[in-house]
Amino acid sequence: MILIPDNGFVRKAMAKVGLFYGSTTGKTADAAEQVQAALGGDSVVDLQDIADAEASSLSEYDYLIIACPTWNIGDLQDDWEAVFEDLDDVDFSGKTVAYFGTGDQVGYSENFMDAMGQLEEKISGLGGKTVGQWSAEGYDHTESLAIRDGNKFCGLALDDDNESEKSAERIEQWTAQIKQAMSL
Ligand SMILES: Cc1cc2nc3c(=O)[nH]c(=O)nc-3n(C[C@H](O)[C@H](O)[C@H](O)COP(=O)(O)O)c2cc1C
Repeated sequence: MILIPDNGFVRKAMAKVGLFYGSTTGKTADAAEQVQAALGGDSVVDLQDIADAEASSLSEYDYLIIACPTWNIGDLQDDWEAVFEDLDDVDFSGKTVAYFGTGDQVGYSENFMDAMGQLEEKISGLGGKTVGQWSAEGYDHTESLAIRDGNKFCGLALDDDNESEKSAERIEQWTAQIKQAMSL
């Protein structure tokens, strides 16, 4: 966090990127911390649990990362569900937005990463420019609302339920892509 003198006062400068996540059992929260660290820490990325924020807080950033696990067979995680309608009041035009999710491609093969897909559809429909698509090669799901342009997820897909050993490498590769897309 950088401190900037401002008319005699010292105020906290906002980081460039707002990373908003929801997490019920902690896996997406853990991944969010790893993504923040890989992108340069809290001077670059503000980490916000959407349970403690308003949809309007997203307006404050030109660069956003949206993180949501899928719950209840194809649904948004509860705290994202609570703000989903309010996203309609946010102007996403001019904003660059990346997404990641956590899910279970074996247990919920027909709904893998659906929540990430729903959020990307909503936010890109409201003007957000999506970056950080991720190849679906090597995953074993049958259906997903997060698939775009043939065989790509609209964001990073993490599956700590079945292949947690792959997550660190996936985060490293994806954040390298995000650094370029967001000029970090
Ligand atoms: C009852 C239940 C329903 C789930 N439904 C889905 C689903 O539809 N699609 C999916 O990809 N993962 C599903 N999952 C897996 C979770 O998304 C996964 O465990 C995730 O990492 C949890 O994230 P969190 O710990 O941040 O809440 C489900 C898990 C449970 C226990």
